[in-house]
Amino acid sequence: MPDTIPFRAQNVRMGSSSGQPLTRRDGFLKVTGAATYAADNHPENLLHAVVAVSTIARGRVASLDVDAAKAHPGVVEVITPANRIPLALDPDVKVGLFGFRIEALQDDRVRYANQPIALVVAETLEAATEGVRLLAPRYDVEQTRISFGDGEAFEPVAVAFGSPPVAAVGDLGAGLAAASHRVEASYVTPAQYHNAMEPHAMVASWDGDRLTLDTPNQAIVLSRAAFAAYFGIPAENVLLRSPFLGGGFGSKAIMNGPYILCILAARMLGRPVKMVLPRAQMFGPVGHRGATRQTLRLGTDADGRLTALEHDAVATTSSFDDFLEPAANASLNLYASPTIVARHHGLRLDIGTPGPMRAPGEASGSAALESAMDEAALACGLDPLEFRLRNYAENDPASGKPFSAKSLRECYAQGAEAFGWAGRALEPCRMRDEAGQLVGWGMGSAIFHAPMFQAEARATLRADGTALVETAGADMGQGAWTALAQIAADGLGLDIDKIEFRSGSSDLPDGGVAGGSGHTATAGSALHNAGTDVISKLTELAVNDRDSPLFGAGNAGVDARHGRLYHRDDEARSESYQSILARAGLTNLEGNGRGGRDPASAEQRAMFSHGAVFAEVKVDPDLGQVKATRLVGAFAAGRIINPKLARSQLYGGMIWGISFALHEEALHDRRTGRPMNADLAGYHIPVHADIPDMEVLLIDEVDPYVNGLGIKGVGEIGITGTVGAIANAIWHATGVRARRFPIRIEDIIVG
Ligand code: MOS
Repeated sequence: MPDTIPFRAQNVRMGSSSGQPLTRRDGFLKVTGAATYAADNHPENLLHAVVAVSTIARGRVASLDVDAAKAHPGVVEVITPANRIPLALDPDVKVGLFGFRIEALQDDRVRYANQPIALVVAETLEAATEGVRLLAPRYDVEQTRISFGDGEAFEPVAVAFGSPPVAAVGDLGAGLAAASHRVEASYVTPAQYHNAMEPHAMVASWDGDRLTLDTPNQAIVLSRAAFAAYFGIPAENVLLRSPFLGGGFGSKAIMNGPYILCILAARMLGRPVKMVLPRAQMFGPVGHRGATRQTLRLGTDADGRLTALEHDAVATTSSFDDFLEPAANASLNLYASPTIVARHHGLRLDIGTPGPMRAPGEASGSAALESAMDEAALACGLDPLEFRLRNYAENDPASGKPFSAKSLRECYAQGAEAFGWAGRALEPCRMRDEAGQLVGWGMGSAIFHAPMFQAEARATLRADGTALVETAGADMGQGAWTALAQIAADGLGLDIDKIEFRSGSSDLPDGGVAGGSGHTATAGSALHNAGTDVISKLTELAVNDRDSPLFGAGNAGVDARHGRLYHRDDEARSESYQSILARAGLTNLEGNGRGGRDPASAEQRAMFSHGAVFAEVKVDPDLGQVKATRLVGAFAAGRIINPKLARSQLYGGMIWGISFALHEEALHDRRTGRPMNADLAGYHIPVHADIPDMEVLLIDEVDPYVNGLGIKGVGEIGITGTVGAIANAIWHATGVRARRFPIRIEDIIVG
């Protein structure tokens, strides 16, 4: 892009909007129903598409009664492998953010349950739905491989996000041999499906070779390019609009077959087509968190210091793609050990390809690691917090690099204080409440990467002293619309009410990916830089103008705030933005900015957010029912732009941790491979009654290296310490160590 400011110097001083606990700016639109989601779009002449999905998990489609479906009133077309027009890009080729192969009716094979096998397009949703029923598919069924024991094992060349399958530090064998205490245990985590409140949806409209897509998307500009590639048109010909998302969690960052089929139907029929996946179809073609089995071996010396840490993970994937949950990587960056091995294996099942799902890798991996750390603390006779402090990593254990900033000690201290951890008995089964319930306290450490992607932004100062700031990023509920506007306001030296923020459309500067907990840092940096670009130009105008009170101040001699430039050495000399623009005869002044990691800092430092989670559970001694009753999480994630929204993100992550520990699991029928609980009645996620007293503490942290603004991220870290903390609390309440998630009544009673 033209006129780009390079990556900013470190330690940018920010204005007064950042740090304010503003209420989300889109909240009013959402609660009044004025916010339009993809499915709310109703262009003229609209057709409705419903995907027919397989009810078997492996085999081929032997027949479809296309004639019966087409004969139904209102049905316009039935698209199958026999009549679908070719795509410009082979759907077996992996494209998109993580390079997924998609199922777009390229053959008659069935590779998982709920795989698309046809698309019925009709004048109404009802007619399309009935058309799907009339297809009455018949199958040649093959033996399904759906559980761990049936899977086809393989050794991967890489795990998700390109990390190598094995990472090692030191000589693990020697570390184990030197240990006074050894702990070995295996943990199982289930398949989980994202289940965003808003299902995947799309309205696709063609105008010649131009394509408009209304669809929720976390990676707007990247996805635009991927959609364009499938249809052989330039990326600029695609307008992708995604102003609001009802949750994403990773599943809306990736390509999927139903979307391609919807666009294809619109192309074939020359009319706009709407497709909304029913809840059940979100269990298959749109990604999930793959199941894992993880084995950890920890060795410690007599003082409880780790001598060896081995984390071996088997992760499941589909029969036709390679995404593997990088669970073992959770052990690479948290605890100091002279020897570490993190190793991954793949297991192919007849399932849809897994994908990134909130804290991919760390969520499952830290559940196992934090449980194993608790088991090792017990073996050493140490309090779990004391054990973690003895193994505090001053530098990144995997790379040996210093951390850009690490305030985990403060998280431990403040979290423990707020929770009252000091009163905890070392032995289990020591506490009961007045009703006779067993009470247990557990804790876990939280960690998540602080990545940055690439983003661009534009800021336009207008003659009336307001500004338009634009970047194509997505707000999937995390509060980007608000936090990013706060950062932009500070870059421009304007109050937040002067900022018009526009995002969620591919015709804006590329806002990068809303994911990986890196969106605020990345898009925020771009916006701040765009704002300061405007201010430099404005300053240039003023200090060179004899009629300005700032004449002669020089660029470095000026401060920008509340819509005025001030002479740094003489605050009485100042001028409003409007007046500077007016005298220069300008109706607006545009600036551009870029966000991304400074490569030199990334080379020299390890960058993570940290936290500590303390949990209390109560367990019915007769029935084994568990309830999380109290949770305190203390997190350090660099500069917090909006404490209200950051806290909300962290609550959300911790609630997901409760879900992971106690509720959530996709069950597949062993015989058919079909998900048995593909709805929100059977797929258990916490409701209000499941959520205890929760407290989130935001620990002040100045990170001078992570980026100029000192921003890390809070989107994912909340899950990571919580799962283990709850499992450990259950052990403390009952003396029973559950090693399978979610932890069930029978795991506790049988033990
Ligand atoms: Mo996320 S799994 O980076 O949306």
